[in-house]
Amino acid sequence: MEFTKKWAKEQDKQDALSSYRKKFFIPQHKNADCVYFTGNSLGLQPKTTAASIQQELNDWAKYGVEGHFLAKNRWVDYHEFLTEKTARLVGAMTEEVVMMNQLTSNLHFLMVSFYRPTKQRYKIICEAKAFPSDQYALQSQIKFHGYKTEDALIEIFPREGEHNLRTEDVLSVIEKHKNELALVMIGGVNYLTGQVFDIKKITKAAQNVGAICGWDLAHAAGNIRLELHNWGVDFACWCSYKYLNSGPGSVAGAFVHKKHLKNTDLPLFAGWWGHDKDERFKMEREFRPMLTAERWQLSNAPVLSMAAYKAAIAIFDDAGMAALTEKSKSLTAYLEFVIEEINKSQPAEKKFEIITPKKERGCQLSVIAHGRGKELHKKLMDAGVIADWREPNVIRMAPVPLYNSFEDVFRFGEILKSIPS
Ligand SMILES: Cc1ncc(COP(=O)(O)O)c(C=O)c1O
Repeated sequence: MEFTKKWAKEQDKQDALSSYRKKFFIPQHKNADCVYFTGNSLGLQPKTTAASIQQELNDWAKYGVEGHFLAKNRWVDYHEFLTEKTARLVGAMTEEVVMMNQLTSNLHFLMVSFYRPTKQRYKIICEAKAFPSDQYALQSQIKFHGYKTEDALIEIFPREGEHNLRTEDVLSVIEKHKNELALVMIGGVNYLTGQVFDIKKITKAAQNVGAICGWDLAHAAGNIRLELHNWGVDFACWCSYKYLNSGPGSVAGAFVHKKHLKNTDLPLFAGWWGHDKDERFKMEREFRPMLTAERWQLSNAPVLSMAAYKAAIAIFDDAGMAALTEKSKSLTAYLEFVIEEINKSQPAEKKFEIITPKKERGCQLSVIAHGRGKELHKKLMDAGVIADWREPNVIRMAPVPLYNSFEDVFRFGEILKSIPS
């Protein structure tokens, strides 16, 4: 690797995915493309999104309510158009996934079914510093069932002086609480550190002691390879506005493993879209659950937001997770290399410390900017770098393989290097 424009451009030339960049709108700064490293927060807009939404607006204008049955993409079935590609994305069977609601809502609705505390088993294990929405969801579920958070919620912390969790520590906490454990619920990729958890191993360990294991895949879906079915994950949920480029607050995803789908006794909060679709419009009193993950749907499809997802997932599916994760490894390794090169000229107390573990990462790198404050972030933004700052001094950067280039990484390095330490 070389920290030169020539080397970066050469990589872009050899990159089989480089043409995908043209399929997105790249925010501009002084008439040039920004270095956009926040696909982990809000992915960029595909150029096909507007047409996909416009199609539904046109059919709405043309048919009014009849669009449910007459639209080119029938609205009554709209979520079904998303299932196959979504299943491929997360390594699931088609009956195991559904696009619905938003992430935190899905987490709650799935916990209604999968967090079933008893006097003996009522504890939940999660990672310390889980995303706040997850913490609130877990705490409120515990309260809802009449337990106390201080007693029922077990957070796993990194060891003293470390930033990340060791899998062995997660496993030993599971073992320690094996008799009281109801649920293990962790973010598949930690939002702050970018650490990728061993979903397969942790899921197995939880299930071996008789607990359920669920995952928040907000930072994993579209970032790392997932095999939710083969890993035996009980349930999972994720959003589509980060790596999946479906626009702010767009429709979210949910996964329920096949092994649970036949169990019609599972309690859930039901709505008419979870009712057997062949009988749905008979409007009968008794709820007859779908035998797929669609059972957890409550409402009819939010077609406009799904139209954005439909456009975005088509691009993802075309590129394929295998190729994307391959490129992701090289692109993130290049960013790591560039930061290390810059560190060579930084004073010891101001070196950039990458806290994302080398062997457990997707595309995101989280960096502690020692001895610097938020002005560093401002200077980056002023120079056209869109990265994310978390107090007190963590910069999160995600060079995403779908639209970021090696030249983006080089340009970022040049800008960072030019900011006085
Ligand atoms: C890990 C994680 N969980 C939950 C959420 C909350 O998502 P939503 O607002 O879509 O419910 C986010 C949002 O960024 C997140 O990163």
